[in-house]
Amino acid sequence: MAKADASKLDWNNLGFEYMDLPYRYTAHWKDGEWQEGGLTEDSTLHISEASPVLHYGQSAFEGMKAYRTPDNHIQLFRPDQNAARFKRSCERLLMPVFPEDKFVDAVKQVAKANADFVPPYGNGGTLYIRPLIIGTGGVIGVHQAPEYIFTIFAMPVGNYFKGGLTPVNFTTSAYDRAAHKGTGQAKVGGNYAASLLPAENAHENGFADCVYLDPVEHKYIEEVGSANFFGITKDGVFKTPKSPSILPSVTKYSLLWLAKNRLGLGASEERIDVNDLDQFAEAGACGTAAVISPLGGLEHNGKLHVFYSETEVGPVTKKLYDTLTGIQFGTVEAPEGWVQRVE
Ligand code: PLP
Ligand code: COI
Repeated sequence: MAKADASKLDWNNLGFEYMDLPYRYTAHWKDGEWQEGGLTEDSTLHISEASPVLHYGQSAFEGMKAYRTPDNHIQLFRPDQNAARFKRSCERLLMPVFPEDKFVDAVKQVAKANADFVPPYGNGGTLYIRPLIIGTGGVIGVHQAPEYIFTIFAMPVGNYFKGGLTPVNFTTSAYDRAAHKGTGQAKVGGNYAASLLPAENAHENGFADCVYLDPVEHKYIEEVGSANFFGITKDGVFKTPKSPSILPSVTKYSLLWLAKNRLGLGASEERIDVNDLDQFAEAGACGTAAVISPLGGLEHNGKLHVFYSETEVGPVTKKLYDTLTGIQFGTVEAPEGWVQRVE
């Protein structure tokens, strides 16, 4: 694959596609410790055919973004939260932890080295950053890997769900994404492999993605395969599902805080019955890649429940979007410690 050329990119029409940028950070775990990591231009990995990541899915990743501010700086949004979640994901799959401060420093190195690819302020584009760890080395029994590769690569992106702030429709899935005591809270590869078929079924039926229900009763909303769910009740409460099998989302917890402290709404993490959608005036999906994607409607048991509108974003969702993205791009004052400058 050819290396990406920043001078040839159309910043106004970025999708969510892989690009081979000039630099990534790579560190190897060998002989029980992390070797000195650093930036490299090589975008390929050379690993044993018996690497546990290939057979047994021993891998974890993160998703974060670098934002260009109007005064042309580059900044990160709550990278410490991604570092902490990455640590928890690694511990769940018995992988070595990459020190959290070094994780944030390495993310900054990647954003800085690829600064030409951080989209200009104003069109909503960002540099999506993907930290990843995989278990490598020759193992054939079901054991943890003897070696690991930690890498961080990046690419400029636009909207994850086509349409941005134009609502999309989702459908519930009859499949489960993760079990209550499984790996749903960890950002590990297997969860996403399990979501491919349900998402494909949703696409074939004309939906942007599917919403999973709880794996015990198939009654309570869990999340989307790539984002969390939230709803704004008719009496002004920001609600998002509480479940032991969903990803603790940085965006979701940021929105819970902003809803309460900046918008003066009620804010609650609780079980949300899929048969009680009438309580909501608006709904959306939230996440690093998804940002906030308004939900036009949610289909369940063959019936489409329309929230605010299938074509127009609701006023509270729009306010949350403006507040969140304003903080991320540096035009709205950030709560203490939420943004870190790269350069
Ligand atoms: N849920 C899932 C399954 C995800 O993949 C993501 C994306 O990272 C999210 C939720 C949102 O998490 P965050 O806001 O930390 O990006
Ligand atoms: C993210 O929002 O960063 C994600 O990881 C979602 C998806 C692209 C898997």
